[in-house]
Parts: sequence; C-alpha cells; structure tokens
Amino acid sequence: MNPTPTPLRLVVLASGRGSNLAAMVRAIRENRLNARIEAVISNKPNAPALDIARNAGIAAVALDHTLFSSRNAFDQQLVAEIDRYAPDWVVLAGFMRILTPVMISRFNNRIINIHPSLLPAFPGLNTHQRALDAAVREHGATVHLVTTEVDAGVPIAQVTIPVRADDTAQSLADRVIHQEHVLFTTVLDWLARGRLTVEDHSVRLDGAILTQPIRLNPFPPADHRDKDGTGTTMNR
Ligand code: GRF
Repeated sequence: MNPTPTPLRLVVLASGRGSNLAAMVRAIRENRLNARIEAVISNKPNAPALDIARNAGIAAVALDHTLFSSRNAFDQQLVAEIDRYAPDWVVLAGFMRILTPVMISRFNNRIINIHPSLLPAFPGLNTHQRALDAAVREHGATVHLVTTEVDAGVPIAQVTIPVRADDTAQSLADRVIHQEHVLFTTVLDWLARGRLTVEDHSVRLDGAILTQPIRLNPFPPADHRDKDGTGTTMNR
C-alpha cells in the first residue's frame, strides 16, 4: 500500500453560507481528510463560501449565472472552469443550481452532493419543515451521486437523527447541519482512502456493492468551543 497517498483533488461548488465547505477545510487542516480543495466556484458572487475559500488560501471563482443566456451556456463555462483544476471529484456543498447533461456527462459519477433529508424522502427545498409536517420520527441527511434529476442519484450514506416532540424547523436544521458536516467529511475520507469507489453507477465500499445507503447513527454533538463543528460561527 502506498504510505503517502496523493491527496484527493476536489473542486467545491457552493451558492451560500458554506458551512459544509468550512467543515471540509477544517478536516483537511486537522489531517482528518487527505484532500486538497483546488477551487471553490460559486454562482453567487457574494456567497460567504467564496470568503471562506479566500481565507483558506483556496482559489475562489465567481460565475454569476444571471449573466448567461441559458443553463447550458452556464454549465459549459462551469465545465471549463472546473477542468482548469482537474479534480478527482466535484463536490456540491449547497450549490443551488440544477445541473444539465453538459455537466453530468463531463463529470459522470464524479459529482457528489449532500442533501438535508433521508432521501428519497423530501427532495428539494424546505426539508425540515416538510419532515415536521409529515410527522416523521426520523430525519437526517444523505450524501448521494448527482444526476440531472434533482436529489435522485444513487444514495451513498445517510445519517439519521430522531425528531423530538418539541422540534421546530430551526431546531431540526441546527441538529442536521452538524450531522451533515461530519457525514460529508466522512464520505470524502472514504473516497480519499480508496475505500469508496464508483463505476457505472455501482458504488462499492470496501469492495462490497452498496445495495442501499450506509446508515450511520448520529455523530456526537460538536463541543462547546465550536458549536457547529466547523470552526466557524453559523448565521442562524
Ligand atoms: C445544506 O443543508 C446542504 O445539505 C444543502 O444546502 C445546505 C448548504 O449549507 N444542499 P452550507 O452552505 O454548507 O452551510
């Protein structure tokens, strides 16, 4: 076995706050994840995620989708930008754009996303309120491969948390986002170690084909110094 494996090359796409990105930056800095974030690209020029990238010395690229005439035109430019960094994986961390076949075919089986629900339940937006409205007893987050259909690619891993009787959408969101941070860095670590492999939509962990997502129990709460587990202060 290679004693010093090459870091996994990542390009992260993010549209907003960037707390999942911050969690990855921190995991890399603390040697919990053998990866390099080559660039962070955002369709929102003012996204806080771009500031997180700059502060970490990572190339920060703004690609304002409103300046493009079509989804295809935007995705063509996005592909060109990503290709400059030759990533092993494209990581969607709160990237609020539906991808066209232009992106999916270029990076087939190499785009991964995190979604704040136990897919296939609650694809799309407002997942926490919808989970409460449906009175589910368990909620959580899913890391999955990305296809052109929203939140519908092969699910790789999920973390579940119990829904409490007094939960609000905000209290659920607060608990789930911490779980997301650990789940996403865990799955990226599996990729970095070569434990998780993807070929023609067959996903293997430690050589065994996944027939359903790996279900993980809730990770311990972040400690008091760092409530969201990212080294950043969350905007609530
Ligand atoms: C997360 O809840 C993620 O699951 C969803 O978008 C949100 C992004 O949050 N896809 P952040 O920007 O990483 O803080």
